[in-house]
Amino acid sequence: MDSNVRPDSMQRITTEALASAFIDEQVAAIKEQVGDKKVLLALSGGVDSSVVAALLIKAIGKQLVCVHVNHGLLRKGEPEQVIEVFRNQMDANLIYVDAVDRFLDRLAGVAEPEKKRKIIGDEFIRVFEEEARKLEGIRFLAQGTIYPDILESKDGVKAHHNVGGMPEEFDFELVEPVKLLFKDEVRVVGKTLGLPDNMVYRQPFPGPGLGVRCLGAITRERLECVRESDAILREEFAKNGLQGKVWQYFTAIPDIKSVGVKDGKRYEGYPVIIRAINTKDAMTATVENVPFELLQHITDRITHEVEGVNRVLYDLTPKPIGTIEWE
Ligand code: XMP
Repeated sequence: MDSNVRPDSMQRITTEALASAFIDEQVAAIKEQVGDKKVLLALSGGVDSSVVAALLIKAIGKQLVCVHVNHGLLRKGEPEQVIEVFRNQMDANLIYVDAVDRFLDRLAGVAEPEKKRKIIGDEFIRVFEEEARKLEGIRFLAQGTIYPDILESKDGVKAHHNVGGMPEEFDFELVEPVKLLFKDEVRVVGKTLGLPDNMVYRQPFPGPGLGVRCLGAITRERLECVRESDAILREEFAKNGLQGKVWQYFTAIPDIKSVGVKDGKRYEGYPVIIRAINTKDAMTATVENVPFELLQHITDRITHEVEGVNRVLYDLTPKPIGTIEWE
């Protein structure tokens, strides 16, 4: 049987009882697979990798080594939060790697989305191999792959960084305990594992991070525009009761400039696109009906607070026909 195919008999995990059964099964499977060896986990701090971390901590405790790679494509405040939650609160084995320059240098001038994903995925693996070599005795690599990643890679919609694309010399065995689950099921499992709500219900964030939201060839300037505008959007959604209600919301920045006017002078700047969608499993999505006054307020803040941005647009496109991300 293809282990990447969800069996028809597999019940949708909608309750804590079903999640407990899944957890028991996975804990036993992880123990069996890993034995007394060490496992390296790419801990981005998103729902998927956090749930995988909690599952592995339950199964093998300190044999799990979490590595948080700051690739420069994370949201504002995110690396700090990962350290706080996992190192300080959960007492996990956590290594922080500052890899900002090497990622951005490799991505310089690369405009094609799939190429960007491949580079980010490939660089990730290199960083992990380096960490593994330093650590001794690492045999396994855990990943927060979920079922939509597998389905969409098969259909050729996009090459998710965490499925395939590994270099030949890659010699870790994979541990992917949630690879047959949909996002909503991963959240139930996380809640059942006792993870804090702000982690379990955190909106998903793609592995390639802001890299696929800084459209075309990434520049540090536009990357900062997308990071700062995203932070403002998140702050305003939280203040206005939309955090936890809207499934995913973010900004993207295209590689075009338009004419504007600021302080009576011509002001060329980038547009920022707001995307706010609802979905159950990320396979289809509808657009959130954000109050117009709030959109105006966010526009006002972004255009005044983010240097280099002179327009804000709201994306009204459902999935299909648009994907959730722009790249
Ligand atoms: P799309 O854009 O395919 O997104 O409608 C569906 C969901 O997947 C996330 N996404 C990714 N996650 N690696 C990931 O781990 C990726 O390359 C990737 N691309 C999209 C996206 O944010 C949404 O939640």
